[in-house]
Amino acid sequence: MNDVAKVLGIFGSPRRGGNTDLLLKETLKGAAAEGARAEEIRLCDFRITPCRECLSCFNDGACVIPDDMQGIYPRLLKADIVILASPIFFYGITGWAKAMVDRSQALWARKYKLHDPALETEHKRKGFFVSVGGTKGQRMFEGAVLTVRYFFDAFNTEYSGDLLFRGVDACGDILKNPDALSQASSAGRKLVSDLRMNKVRPVP
Ligand SMILES: Cc1cc2nc3c(=O)[nH]c(=O)nc-3n(C[C@H](O)[C@H](O)[C@H](O)COP(=O)(O)O)c2cc1C
Repeated sequence: MNDVAKVLGIFGSPRRGGNTDLLLKETLKGAAAEGARAEEIRLCDFRITPCRECLSCFNDGACVIPDDMQGIYPRLLKADIVILASPIFFYGITGWAKAMVDRSQALWARKYKLHDPALETEHKRKGFFVSVGGTKGQRMFEGAVLTVRYFFDAFNTEYSGDLLFRGVDACGDILKNPDALSQASSAGRKLVSDLRMNKVRPVP
């Protein structure tokens, strides 16, 4: 058994070096410091077509669209911990992230239509959401959290927590919060240490 935790960070903002970028990098560094193998994908470097609702995936759990999402499915399934980082765009996640989430309908179909045991019970992953928004609205994260919770559920991933910051707008504003990066690093460490404590079993 390979007990090195595999962590996949998914960067969903188009702004490189921006607020969620800084937070995700720090979360992944924390995970790596705890002994995990952490890797990152940047959705703005991928070509992901929105779901066409052809429902072909209800037959075999596979998506017929031949684009870069085909390479992301196996990476989601191999991970023990998935961290999605997206700023709030119009009270939801970014279009880059939403395209990926909607394409995970193929995984939802494998789990709920085809009852694939690999997605129903066998490998429970941990999921974590990192987000920021420019304003201070009380309900700013509600829509995004629901979307991410059900995205994670589609591939048997528990919504284990989140780091959400309001009032973070200009590039680098997150650095004005003196604790934000250390909170991100601690969250990364904790995800891996919780996994090690067998709250979630790593992939064999
Ligand atoms: C298209 C777009 C929509 C946005 N919608 C919201 C919103 O609904 N609520 C909010 O508080 N901030 C909104 N913002 C502000 C971003 O959440 C904010 O600038 C954030 O810091 C960007 O994060 P990043 O640096 O990681 O890209 C929006 C920004 C853009 C570009």
